[in-house]
Amino acid sequence: MATDPPEPGAPEPPLWEQWAEQRAKLPTGERLQKVLAATGWGSRRSCEELIAAGRVTVNGEVAELGRRVDPNVDLIEVDGAPVGVKPGLVYYLLNKPTGVVTTAKDTHGRTTVVELVPSTPRVFPVGRLDIDTEGLLLMTNDGDLAHRITHPSHGIEKEYLVHVRGRVTPGQLRQLRDGVELEDGMTAPAQASQPSPGVLRITIHEGRNRQVRRMCDAIGHPVLRLVRTRIGPITDRSLRPSDWRELSTGERRALTEAVAAGAQRYDRPT
Ligand code: URA
Repeated sequence: MATDPPEPGAPEPPLWEQWAEQRAKLPTGERLQKVLAATGWGSRRSCEELIAAGRVTVNGEVAELGRRVDPNVDLIEVDGAPVGVKPGLVYYLLNKPTGVVTTAKDTHGRTTVVELVPSTPRVFPVGRLDIDTEGLLLMTNDGDLAHRITHPSHGIEKEYLVHVRGRVTPGQLRQLRDGVELEDGMTAPAQASQPSPGVLRITIHEGRNRQVRRMCDAIGHPVLRLVRTRIGPITDRSLRPSDWRELSTGERRALTEAVAAGAQRYDRPT
């Protein structure tokens, strides 16, 4: 805050007060174009062009060139879509093979998912796949997004390709869709189809322990092979087992939007 100039002849304010006043005048936060560039929107120059074109808002207001932001606090949007990534955060998509455990450290010396991705910055798995389950697993150091993805009230869809013993009847498929009784209660409505005999595509939005295996057990068709093929909007048919890649900016945005849409759909506070 600016202060009036001292009266002529008045004593100088103490030095520390002068410093505090000077510091308050210094711009705080990071330049918007720098934050945009760090989140994958292109070079700083092209990010400046985005801002100049009026396509970037900060907390709902069209941003001007030179604007500074705090990426941990300010809501930054480009063309109305949130730029949900803060500098320093990483988002990996891993194709987990069987035999690898979804923990940070295994007491039995087995390979963990954390060992399959870069060790710095340290990331952790978002949710969990059983040791015998294959397929897509997100890994990140963004605790906030991880929490929102795994929270059941956000209802992020998880799709699985499931090879089961025997051919499933239409009645049993209906049971999977309507909900099956498990020891921890009824499952929520799911999507279930049988693209070929004994191969099911099941989509759930809950995240209970060994849920798909238990659902299939409950209808009398034990799982022989379980592969997660989609997490919300994220899918990848060309990622080989044990391989990983970073999510693209578009994928990160789609994921943030899916979490927000899920929260509204299930209309429950977290
Ligand atoms: N459901 C299961 O039964 N296992 C998994 O790993 C994931 C979902």
